[in-house]
Amino acid sequence: MDYKIGFVGAGKMVSAIVKSLLNSNSFSAHNISCCSANDGTSDALSKETGISRFENFSTLISEKPDILVLGCKPQQLAELPDDISQKMNEVLILSIMAGITLDRLKQKFPLARNIVRSMPNTPGLIGAGITGFIFAKDANLEDKEIIQKVLGSLGKLKLIHDEKYIDDITAISGSGPAYLFEFTCAIENAALEIGLEKKLAKDLAIQTIIGSAKLIEKSNLHPQELRDQVTSPNGTTQAALESFSNDQLRNIIARAVKSARDRSRELSNA
Ligand SMILES: NC(=O)c1ccc[n+]([C@@H]2O[C@H](COP(=O)([O-])OP(=O)(O)OC[C@H]3O[C@@H](n4cnc5c(N)ncnc54)[C@H](OP(=O)(O)O)[C@@H]3O)[C@@H](O)[C@H]2O)c1
Repeated sequence: MDYKIGFVGAGKMVSAIVKSLLNSNSFSAHNISCCSANDGTSDALSKETGISRFENFSTLISEKPDILVLGCKPQQLAELPDDISQKMNEVLILSIMAGITLDRLKQKFPLARNIVRSMPNTPGLIGAGITGFIFAKDANLEDKEIIQKVLGSLGKLKLIHDEKYIDDITAISGSGPAYLFEFTCAIENAALEIGLEKKLAKDLAIQTIIGSAKLIEKSNLHPQELRDQVTSPNGTTQAALESFSNDQLRNIIARAVKSARDRSRELSNA
């Protein structure tokens, strides 16, 4: 694509997007630039990938990017000078920042041609993520294609039409990887408790999660059917599932998701 794309921030998520865009030949290095706060991350990303690096937001903007990706931390948005951001016209803004609403982005970039708010997740770092996103207003075909390329570099995409769902997406897929990592740790701990040695406990827990996730992906069956396939009547798995049910595992997870959703709403409205 022959557009200039500027990244504010050069950390983990931005690095994943930049490398994927270059690998897929969607953008060439001379059309991509970045800046960061203390030079460290932008310098490293520029050296590794050949993209341009600028001292700060103001010098990045002097290059007049067609697309500006906001990939710094949410609390760092305020550090970008309003007198510059508010004059940027005809730019497409793509925010990957958690908790920053479209209204807040419109205040910061009132002359943008369109604004996208998105919620990626960490599997995006290896191209296996899922990202929910919303346009501030109806998007033209060109902008839809750009966003498809840029956010699609992190994995699958879900376009939504009501911003309130961003908080729900945050609670499911945004925080979701941490739920699975915690579940993996819980299995590892349980393995230690029943007497397995440390390395065996860790290897069994991790490979069981990896193998099960791959099986969900490759099989046409719903996870519930896959679960039923390993649950023989009166067998070991049934004993464990009954214990989960007695301890109301599904309610525990539903409560955790609601807590994450409520916290996301609080942060978005702060
Ligand atoms: N990681 C995730 O799983 C995930 C998931 C969903 C959404 N997100 C969102 O993605 C964004 C980036 O997350 P990350 O994990 O990639 O963060 P990160 O690795 O900490 O990177 C943050 C980047 O922002 C730069 N920065 C800070 N202040 C700046 C400023 N005033 N001007 C320009 N650049 C500035 C930092 O520069 P220095 O290094 O020089 O300080 C760094 O390059 C966050 O907003 C987060 O909410 C992340």
